[in-house]
Amino acid sequence: MDTLRYLEELERRAELGGGEERLRKQHDAGKLTVRERIDLLFDPGSFQEVDKLVTHRCRDFDMDEQIVPGDGVVCGQGRVEGRPVYAFAQDFTVFGGSLSETNAAKIVKIMDLAMKMGAPVVGLNDSGGARIQEGVLSLGGYADIFLRNTLASGVVPQISAIMGPCAGGAVYSPAITDFNIMVEGTSYMFVTGPDVIRTVTHEEVTKEQLGGAMTHNATSGVAHFAVADDRECLRLIRELLGYLPGNNVDNPPRRETSDPPDREDEALDRLIPESPNQPYDMHDLIQSVFDDGGFLEVHRHYAKNIIVGFARLGGTTVGIVANQPAHLAGTLDIDASVKGARFVRFCDAFNIPLVTFEDVPGFLPGTRQEYGGIIRHGAKLLFAFAEATVPKLTVITRKAYGGAYCVMSSKHIRTDVNFAWPSAEIAVMGPEGAVNILYKREIDAAPDKAAARAKRVAEFKEKFANPYVAASRGFVDEVIRPRQTRAKLIAALGGLDGKRDRNPPKKHGNIPL
Ligand code: HXC
Repeated sequence: MDTLRYLEELERRAELGGGEERLRKQHDAGKLTVRERIDLLFDPGSFQEVDKLVTHRCRDFDMDEQIVPGDGVVCGQGRVEGRPVYAFAQDFTVFGGSLSETNAAKIVKIMDLAMKMGAPVVGLNDSGGARIQEGVLSLGGYADIFLRNTLASGVVPQISAIMGPCAGGAVYSPAITDFNIMVEGTSYMFVTGPDVIRTVTHEEVTKEQLGGAMTHNATSGVAHFAVADDRECLRLIRELLGYLPGNNVDNPPRRETSDPPDREDEALDRLIPESPNQPYDMHDLIQSVFDDGGFLEVHRHYAKNIIVGFARLGGTTVGIVANQPAHLAGTLDIDASVKGARFVRFCDAFNIPLVTFEDVPGFLPGTRQEYGGIIRHGAKLLFAFAEATVPKLTVITRKAYGGAYCVMSSKHIRTDVNFAWPSAEIAVMGPEGAVNILYKREIDAAPDKAAARAKRVAEFKEKFANPYVAASRGFVDEVIRPRQTRAKLIAALGGLDGKRDRNPPKKHGNIPL
């Protein structure tokens, strides 16, 4: 065979992966093949593969008779909207996408390259975990990847797509990365599967219940996005990358917009309901303020009492953190605190300014929260906002009560610009709670208790349930008209261009994990 034909034959075998029968099974399962996925992820024709001819070195269990060039993972670099991105994609048709010593080395190689070049890493995961035939060599391969994931954290964005079963070690690399996207119906993540669980704990659980897309999106919070199929998954990765810088010393890409910076929205003047206990949907505010109504919500199904996600303001990527009065009255509980803290830290690591919308009656009370450690978890959000040095802007729309006032990017923890709407209520607690503590004896002794309480509540509201005490102290920079929120935020963000702030030198802080 001449040399060119030999090369072509090797490449053909690499592209065939585990063979036609297994490729067909992949399609029958509703999944795309590894090469179809790579084609959809990158700009057409931009992908450059590396290590296509790498083979495993295992000689046990008849493995020397089963050698597939590439060894079950496709690795390389390409462009997404013209910007460089590195990727690895596991091929389930080759030993179930399991991780061997050599395919781990391929993944490590592109992660090292991505770090050197300052470009994001995308992992398309579809794997049965450590390759059983290779024993400790595959375990070592995982550990090599985990180390790279950890060192790359906060240096280049890392995105994991879960596009098939991911068991054992296959879940821990995604767990360290910044975002996990799961495909509904075809992807699972678990440390150990239903069979082992049945043996050890006698629990009966299906794969879907244990580790399906919605389990990890709505219940565990391990995953940040759920998508209907592979195509939507790859589209979403491209969209997400469009908001992010390549690395921690770049700024996020700008996207010019025809949406006027001074556009006003009168409807915002009527967003806050008459009664302070009536909910409204914070999404309406987000939709109104940011460029072209665009918003990529992260963790949409988890801890709905806080909203986080990316949008653009005058062309600049911003990270939004917003209390959601329409869910649990916008209180901060354990899950919301952890969700918010993780997002804030991502934005801070990658130079993405933070915009906070605040309407929070406080931390959620109760034994479940206290026993679960709301003190420790709530402190995560406080820590994250306090250590963040990116431009920070806050708008208090209604309640800013108690500790939650301090936590939600208050002036005191280095927020650059703090706005309040005239409807803002800033106090240690709500009027009813405060009056019950301060005037309990007086109210108990009064002949008309209801009238006595109402008088004190009105007095308290008059004094504290407004933004003007805070504004008189400079804790709020400006009380703004709701309709002007977009214009005010854009102007404020412009003023923070080139902000320089830093934390004291240290090895790292000790966020209360
Ligand atoms: C080698 C594997 C494999 C593995 C699957 N295969 N997992 N080969 N090592 N870990 C092979 C199968 O033999 C089969 O080969 C092909 O991949 C497809 O697998 P099926 O079982 O037929 O597919 P399916 O029914 O879809 O089930 C997929 C699966 C299941 C849920 C992933 O295969 C499974 O449970 N695998 C083992 C998962 C696991 O426990 N892994 C080890 C975790 S320990 P053929 O030739 O028939 O196509 C670990 C430690 C790391 O990862 C710890 C780090 C912290």
